[in-house]
Amino acid sequence: MSLSAKRILLVIGGGVAAYKSLDLIRRLRERGASVRCVMTAAAQQFVTPLSAGTLSADHVFTDLFDRNDEHDVGHIRLSREADLIVVAPATADLMAKLATGQANDLASAVLLATDKPVLMAPAMNPRMWSHAATRRNRETLARDGIRFVGPARGEMAESGEAGEGRMAEPLEIVAAVEGLLGRRTGPLAGRRIVVTSGPTHEPIDPVRYIANRSSGKQGHAIAAALAELGAEVVLVSGPVTIADPAGVETVHVETARQMQAAVEAALPADAAVMVAAVADWRVASEAGEKIKKGAGGAPALQMVENPDILAGVGHHRKRPFLVVGFAAETQDLLANARQKLKRKGADIIVANDVSPQGGVMGGDRNEVRIVTAGGVEEWPLMDKDAVAARLAELIARRLASTLT
Ligand code: C5P
Repeated sequence: MSLSAKRILLVIGGGVAAYKSLDLIRRLRERGASVRCVMTAAAQQFVTPLSAGTLSADHVFTDLFDRNDEHDVGHIRLSREADLIVVAPATADLMAKLATGQANDLASAVLLATDKPVLMAPAMNPRMWSHAATRRNRETLARDGIRFVGPARGEMAESGEAGEGRMAEPLEIVAAVEGLLGRRTGPLAGRRIVVTSGPTHEPIDPVRYIANRSSGKQGHAIAAALAELGAEVVLVSGPVTIADPAGVETVHVETARQMQAAVEAALPADAAVMVAAVADWRVASEAGEKIKKGAGGAPALQMVENPDILAGVGHHRKRPFLVVGFAAETQDLLANARQKLKRKGADIIVANDVSPQGGVMGGDRNEVRIVTAGGVEEWPLMDKDAVAARLAELIARRLASTLT
C-alpha cells in the first residue's frame, strides 16, 4: 500500500515508547509519506528533537509561542499542512487534555485546533490505562471521532509489569494509517467488505446478560486478511477481549439488534462475511432493575427471537455480490450447512464442528468445510489465521469474476 504524497503530523508524547516513534517516522517515510514532528516537553526527556528531525528530514516543532524561530508556522498551519495527525505515544496526559479541550502547549493546541483525522496510539502503565479517568477520556475521544490503535498487552519497559498499555508496534500503527489514508493495493483494492465477529450480549437486567463462547478470533482474522489483500473492511464486533485489527474500521456493538443496525449502516458492500455468533434469542423485556432473589423462586425468562443478520443481508435490496455465512454445528454439519445456504440466501457457508472436544470455540485452530451450491470443499485443520487467509483468497477470486 502506498502513502505517497500523504502528509503526516506526528505528535510525540512523553513516554518511554517515544523511541518506537523514531522507527515509525522511518516506516511512514519508506511508504512515501512526509512526516513532520511535534514533540511535547516531556517527549524531549525521552528522545531528542535532533533524532526526530534527522529521521523526518524536517524541522521539529516544540513550542506554542516561538515567534523568534524562523521555522515557526503556528499550530493552525501545522494542522492545515497535514492529511492526518498521529499521536504516538499518546500519553494519559495528552488524552486527558484533548478529552477536556485543553490547549496549553503546542501538541495539545494542534490537536484542539485541527479538523483533520487524528489517530492515537496510547502508551502508558497498565494501571493508568485501566483507570476510570483514562477509560472515560478514551470513550469521549472515540465519540469525538478520534481513532485508536492499541494499546497491546505486554510487559512494560520501565517496570516489567505485564498488562494492557504497551504502545502498538510501528508497523501496526502504519497499517492503521494506511487504513485511514492509504491507497490500497492487492486483489481486493477498491472492494468494500463488511464482516461480523464475536458473540453478542443480550441483557437480562442491568448486571446480567446472555452470551456465548465466541472469542472473535476467526472473524477478526478474516477482517485482517481481507484488509491485507487491499479491501476496505468494516468489522462489526460484539464484545471481545482481543484487539481491533490494524487497517480495519471496527464498530463495537453489544446486542444482535445493534449488530444488525451497524451492518445495515455499512451497506452497500461488495461482500459480507458474517462470522459472529449472534444470540438467537433475547429476553423479551430487559428488567430495568437487578432481578432480586426472593420468595417467588427462580425467574422465568420470556425469550423472543433475534433478527437473523445473515439472512437479512442475503435477501437485502442492497445485497452484496458475495454473501458468506458460517455454520457452527455440533451435529449434522453438512446437512445443516446446505440448508443454511438456501434459507439465508448465502453464496458460501463455512461449516465447522464446534463440539466441545474440538476446541474450536475460543481456540486458535479451526477445521472447516466450504459449502456452496456447487459442492463441498474440505480444508484441513489449520490456524484460524490460515483459514482466514485462504478464505480471503477465495473471496478475492469470486469477486474478481465480477470485474468488467
Ligand atoms: O442459524 P445459525 O446461527 O447457525 O447461522 C449461523 C450464521 O448466521 C453465521 O454466519 C452467523 O453469523 C449468522 N447469524 C446472523 N444472525 C443471527 C444468527 C446467525 O447473522 N441472528
